[in-house]
Amino acid sequence: MRLDKFLGSCGIGSRKQLKEYIKNGMVCVDGNVITKPEFSVDPTINEIIFSGESLTSDYKEFRYYLLNKPQGVVSATKDNHDKTVLDLIDIGFDNNLAPVGRLDKDTEGLLIITNDGKLAHRLLSPKKHVEKEYEVHTARVISDFDLKKLEEGVDIGDDEPTLPAKAFIEDVNGEAVLHLIIHEGRFHQVKRMLEAIGNEVTFLKRIRMGGLVLDPTLAPGEYRELTDEELDLLK
Ligand code: URA
Repeated sequence: MRLDKFLGSCGIGSRKQLKEYIKNGMVCVDGNVITKPEFSVDPTINEIIFSGESLTSDYKEFRYYLLNKPQGVVSATKDNHDKTVLDLIDIGFDNNLAPVGRLDKDTEGLLIITNDGKLAHRLLSPKKHVEKEYEVHTARVISDFDLKKLEEGVDIGDDEPTLPAKAFIEDVNGEAVLHLIIHEGRFHQVKRMLEAIGNEVTFLKRIRMGGLVLDPTLAPGEYRELTDEELDLLK
């Protein structure tokens, strides 16, 4: 790819600034100062140094992170009022990262952050029916009848009722916690499903997306790169 395009993907500056940096001799490729923006580089082979700092020592075209999103942070790339999930990630030079879908500000749990737009698109496509599993704490006890209704589909005020889901109760230290597995991603879907059966979500946490399970060693706010095995599960 062109040198200026590579520098652009590293988030170093605007197109105009990059051209200036290159013309001013601030960029070296394999030890040689390069002053042509169109110079062709392969960041997986060439060592590209900007202002004395290597941009390629840990360069990977695509990055994949598993974040345990904490409450109080919004699933956006930018926000004028709130801290975003990207503020939690040390993104280095990479300015193309984005969360795969959204969790509400008060929802916790598994969120994938990546610059692989194709994977994000596949995971979010309604046609792919990727399962999302939530741990749901509720204001009132969930009955067997409630579980049946959640599984069959409920009217949450959209044109169509929710698609069939899976719902079961897990006993966590004496507390009955609802697990809800859905494969749609409608706005506030879990909260609206619980509302539709006359209940209320008091705490919501996503614990699985497709084959990827939230790493229990990650405290809220912590993240790590996905392993190759985890990536295979998603792909
Ligand atoms: N459903 C919700 O209501 N909120 C979320 O954050 C995710 C699913």
